[in-house]
Amino acid sequence: MIVLDDVVVRLGDVEALRGATLAVDARTVAVIGENGSGKSTFARLVAGLTTAASGTVRVLGLDPEHEIHELRRRVAMVFSNPDAQIVMPTVAEDVAFSIRGQRPRRGARRRSCEQADARLRTSRFGSGADGAGDGAEEAGGKAGGTGDRAGGTGGKAGGTDDGAEEAADRVAQTLERFGLAALAERPAHDLSGGQKQLLALAGAFIRHPDLVVADEPTAYLDARNARLVADHLLADAGHRLVLATHDLALARRCEAAVLFREGRVQELGEPATIIARYEASLQC
Ligand SMILES: Nc1ncnc2c1ncn2[C@@H]1O[C@H](COP(=O)(O)OP(=O)(O)OP(=O)(O)O)[C@@H](O)[C@H]1O
Ligand SMILES: [Mg+2]
Repeated sequence: MIVLDDVVVRLGDVEALRGATLAVDARTVAVIGENGSGKSTFARLVAGLTTAASGTVRVLGLDPEHEIHELRRRVAMVFSNPDAQIVMPTVAEDVAFSIRGQRPRRGARRRSCEQADARLRTSRFGSGADGAGDGAEEAGGKAGGTGDRAGGTGGKAGGTDDGAEEAADRVAQTLERFGLAALAERPAHDLSGGQKQLLALAGAFIRHPDLVVADEPTAYLDARNARLVADHLLADAGHRLVLATHDLALARRCEAAVLFREGRVQELGEPATIIARYEASLQC
């Protein structure tokens, strides 16, 4: 699923990954390691949001350098800050935004989508994307693959009412699945932190991604919401999961664990084994 060979990622003057090598093929993969060890950089690399300066990267068999559109179409990313992932005014619109390239868009909704598109392009594809504020980058990551597709098709009045209806059905089903149906018309920014993170998951999962990359998705949540979000991420809904986290109990629930240290992969293996060694190293 993910193969790295001697990968270097530079962020400004910093080598955030410095010769990372890994070959992992498990449905759920925990990514652990100390602050600054390279977990988020790895997550963004896998999701196609940052690029390698050297080395080889393959994700789902794809080469991000040459197949970035396909990669972004098949991978969805979830970040820790729920506020920064909201791009549309209401809950339902925010979820619909994730599939905006797959259906006709009209009138005011089209206008608001285009405003959001512009925001994303500025944040993600503008100059110095790596230096952009967290919020802008996270919103860009959320829209992932559809952003590129919408760039090619958006604004054209093609499609049918069937397409719009189908999209509305998909949004309704997804809101139901994530327990947000009753909040559909509420302003997205008025939700609680836990509800906002469920909204972020809804936006990711409505696209039926083959791979979900989650970077500390439970960091700001209380225990109940953290459990809920984790259960959605770990459930087998036909996707694979890469989960960067400091929550070692959560990491233990994955099928494999990767331990990062100083920009390199130190170990890959059974979570119980890797976590025990990591915990022991933290006590030194
Ligand atoms: N935008 C950036 N510009 C320059 N250096 C960066 C940037 N983002 C991260 N780094 C550096 O890259 C290295 C890896 O950072 P990264 O965010 O991947 O670590 P992490 O394992 O996710 O840490 P944490 O557990 O604190 O989230 C660190 O030395 C960090 O300071
Ligand atoms: Mg991080």
